Amino acid sequence: MSRESMISGDVLGPEETAEESTLASLRPRLLSEYIGQETVVQKLAITIKAALGRGEPLDHILFHGPPGLGKTTLAHIVSNEMNAGLVCSSGPALERAADLVGILTNLQQGDVLFIDEIHRLPRIVEEYLYPAMEDFQIDIVLDPGPHARTVRLDLSEFTVIGATTRAGLITGPLRNRFGLSLHMQFYKTNELAEIIRRSAGILKLSITSGGAETIALRSRGTPRICNRLLKRVRDFAQVEGRETVTEDVAVEAMDIHGVDEAGLDGLDRKYLRVIIDQYAGGPVGVAALAATLNEEQDTLIDVVEPYLLISGFLNRTSRGRMSTAKACRHLGLRPTGQEELPL
Ligand SMILES: Nc1ncnc2c1ncn2[C@@H]1O[C@H](COP(=O)(O)OP(=O)(O)O)[C@@H](O)[C@H]1O
Ligand SMILES: [Mg+2]
Repeated sequence: MSRESMISGDVLGPEETAEESTLASLRPRLLSEYIGQETVVQKLAITIKAALGRGEPLDHILFHGPPGLGKTTLAHIVSNEMNAGLVCSSGPALERAADLVGILTNLQQGDVLFIDEIHRLPRIVEEYLYPAMEDFQIDIVLDPGPHARTVRLDLSEFTVIGATTRAGLITGPLRNRFGLSLHMQFYKTNELAEIIRRSAGILKLSITSGGAETIALRSRGTPRICNRLLKRVRDFAQVEGRETVTEDVAVEAMDIHGVDEAGLDGLDRKYLRVIIDQYAGGPVGVAALAATLNEEQDTLIDVVEPYLLISGFLNRTSRGRMSTAKACRHLGLRPTGQEELPL
């Protein structure tokens, strides 16, 4: 771990909070402990086994999917399973080509370089990454100006693991250099309940299966959210002197935090309300919504919308976002009458 912090202070991605670093112990360490994402885990297990068998470094891997689904966790697990060193950085942290070159030249044989938010890598830095990933070589220019010389540096064979919430923003040439591109899905309720029971065990918290299921149902398919809710429920149980987290305890605690039975929080409901009340159910562009809500557009696209889309509260059309009848019912509003229009 010391190498991680040595090379880049930015070990945790920007979306990871201080609370989460205290939650680090909740991260599974091995592929066999990893719950859910079966196809992703299966592909990884084969690739790792094959690479270990050949004694070769692992192919480059790209994880994409909404925040909190386990991309960073899997990067740690992969380096663990490969018995490889791990160096963490992120797209925004690698501002200059020299930052990347410094990291690359320090990598040792088989090391994993994890680049979080890889879609935010500046273009010039990205161009240094291409030959590094493909041929384990980089060309650096010495003495820029009329006497410029290019020097080719050989790198150790290493593995890039990239993570992104926006696969669509990754350039073609970069995407093509990943041997494996793995999409992370939202988790099923029973998988989240299992994660919750596992986390409760680590936190030495007694929870019934009903309690775990109740939290799972409100976690928007996301392990980061289920762990966070579990901690809020734990606080509530402790303060109220409830020894075991039952369904009732979980519901009471989550009601206090405004997390409703569909797992929507205050911002989700406000977002839907704005579409319904102010834009007559849509279609409305995300820029207009961001301005009305006074939120970052990226927050809406990365954090708010993915779950609303898959759970049927929102439709995305070529003309913009539209609320659905289900959203109106959920908020106790009359349907706007145009939400189910075909494209
Ligand atoms: N399959 C899983 N089993 C148990 N915990 C998980 C799993 N996937 C993710 N987590 C937990 O969820 C949290 C968020 O995961 P993380 O890897 O940081 O997500 P991402 O990098 O995709 O945003 C972590 O604290 C981790 O402990
Ligand atoms: Mg992450």
